[in-house]
Amino acid sequence: MKGIIFTEFLELVEEKFGLGMVDKIISQSELKSDGIYTSVGTYEFGEMLQLITHLSENTDISVDDLLMVYAEHLFAALIKTHPNLVEHYKDPMDLLASIENHIHVEVQKIYPEAQLPTFELIERTDNKMIMIYKSDKALYMLGKGLMLETFKLFKVPAKIDFEKLNEEGTEVRFIINKG
Ligand code: HEM
Repeated sequence: MKGIIFTEFLELVEEKFGLGMVDKIISQSELKSDGIYTSVGTYEFGEMLQLITHLSENTDISVDDLLMVYAEHLFAALIKTHPNLVEHYKDPMDLLASIENHIHVEVQKIYPEAQLPTFELIERTDNKMIMIYKSDKALYMLGKGLMLETFKLFKVPAKIDFEKLNEEGTEVRFIINKG
């Protein structure tokens, strides 16, 4: 998993819960990196799982809720770091429909070690879209949060439902409705 995902996560933890919490979740986890991350480095996904699980235990906030909050922070950081990937989109549905064949394709070129999810477009009309998320990381709540942030960026109201296609959540159907 790319370092930017870790550095932004720890920045958010510091902002919301203080530096003490950053130190606490790092020392509670067994980290090959020792909790030292650079945005361009690559680290084990297991480190992120440990950090977020410990944050959840220490704060009594579910991992799902933490991922939704994190999505808000991460989306802002991603578009600030890579504005050229999103600036020509005029519509949130177009942007989301292009994750698979444009945005994450470019991301893969910038960060060759990135292990990105796939978002297969199943159905698309003006107001509705169905996409299937696939990733062994099962970060579909992060995906849901990033989708909501995309709509917020364009100030378009939307409703996003999902249905897990397996128990682990490595395959999830998203039903996205404008308005
Ligand atoms: C400028 C826009 C975007 C950039 C630069 C970007 C970049 C990235 C990067 C660097 C990662 C980490 C990959 C790794 O650690 O190996 C990632 C993961 C991810 N991205 Fe994007 N992304 C963008 C937009 C989106 C949007 C709009 C969604 C909405 C669904 C999305 C969904 C995800 C998810 C769910 C992951 C987690 C990895 C997984 O589930 O396997 N991304 N993205």
